[in-house]
Amino acid sequence: KTKGFIFDLDGVIVDTAKYHYLAWKALAKSIGIDFTVHQNEQLKGISRESSLNKILEWGNKTLPKDKFMELMKEKNNQYLSYITTMDENEILPGVTQILDYISQRKHPIALGSASKNSKIILQKVNLLDWFDAIVDGNNVTKAKPDPEVFLKAAKAINTPANQCIVFEDSVAGIQAANVANMISIGIGDSTILNEADFVFKDFTEIHVDFLERLIKTKKE
Ligand code: G6P
Ligand code: MG
Repeated sequence: KTKGFIFDLDGVIVDTAKYHYLAWKALAKSIGIDFTVHQNEQLKGISRESSLNKILEWGNKTLPKDKFMELMKEKNNQYLSYITTMDENEILPGVTQILDYISQRKHPIALGSASKNSKIILQKVNLLDWFDAIVDGNNVTKAKPDPEVFLKAAKAINTPANQCIVFEDSVAGIQAANVANMISIGIGDSTILNEADFVFKDFTEIHVDFLERLIKTKKE
């Protein structure tokens, strides 16, 4: 059976993790909460709602529902203002090459992202056509580390979970892939992503011989 490849979006395909960080940082500040770069690692990969819940927890704050909704909207507007000018230049190094390698070998490719903005972003950077399926924040109810998003992505590309390979930059996403019994590949810092099966600084570090071995690897 052929392998399926599932890509996270923010921080894996495009460098939007920095925009999420800036937007959350400013929003938190506006309600008197500060958080560190280290805490920000816990916001990566999780939904907008879960992110705001975590920030409020860190600041020991609770909010009425309408205020909560308003702040989520505010954060997203700020984020959207950052991404309006995005283009191909914000595709992370090696991404286009690996998509090309995988699709030339006829392996299906899915997106598995928590973001509700994934389609706009893929369109902006002109990568939408590479994907056989898009599963994102609009299709799931449970945030990573719940495996729902990856299991749905696997289903969408007709590939059993243990034949899927996931690329992720977040701790929550690596955990989700592991729970789903998929091969987890961290993109980023190996000390942060130490639960992943493999970690690479970026896609330029992933060579063809590794991919070839990976395609033959079976996860029990
Ligand atoms: C990704 C990012 C998170 C972001 C989440 C929701 O997983 O890593 O930082 O909060 O998506 O994104 P959205 O674009 O829907 O606010
Ligand atoms: Mg990510």
